[in-house]
Amino acid sequence: MKIAVIQGPNLNMLGVRETNIYGPMKLEDIHTQMKAVAEQNGFEIEFFQSNLEGEIVDKIQECLGDADGIIINPAAYTHTSIAIRDALNAVKLPAVEVHISNIAAREEYRKKSLISDVCAGTIAGFGPFSYHLAMIAMIQILNEIKMMKEQQAQNNG
Ligand code: DQA
Repeated sequence: MKIAVIQGPNLNMLGVRETNIYGPMKLEDIHTQMKAVAEQNGFEIEFFQSNLEGEIVDKIQECLGDADGIIINPAAYTHTSIAIRDALNAVKLPAVEVHISNIAAREEYRKKSLISDVCAGTIAGFGPFSYHLAMIAMIQILNEIKMMKEQQAQNNG
C-alpha cells in the first residue's frame, strides 16, 4: 500500500522560513524520517511539494488508482482553496491534514481550514513531529482498511 505526502507553498523553505514558528528542520529531513517509518511498517511512500495550487490539485487527482492514502499540508491554501478541498472530495482517498504550527492558536485567518471536514482527521501544533503523528494515524487507517478487505474476502470466499 502506498501513502502520498503532499506539501503546499513555502514548505520547501522550512529551516529558513520563520524558524521561530516552524523550527529549524528542513523538509527533506522530515521526509527522511517519514520514509523510515513507512518502510518499517511495510508501506510505500511518495513525496510531492508545490507552490502552485493547480499542481497540488493535479497531484491529488493523480493519487486516484496510484495511492491508498494522502497526508497533506496545504500550507496557506488550507485557508483559501476550495479547489484542493474539491479534489480531496473527488478522489475520496483517506486523508490526514497536518500542520506544523497550531493554526487554532494563530491569526484569525488561519483558524479556518477548508479541508478539515473532508479529511479523516487533523494533526497540528507539534512542530515537525506533527508529520510523524500523521504517519502513525495514516498507517492505522490503512491497516484497518486492509483488515476489513481481508475479512470481506474471507466472508465471500
Ligand atoms: C502551516 C500553517 C499555515 O497557516 C501556513 O500558511 C503554512 C504552514 C503549518 O504547517 O503550520 O504555510 O500549514
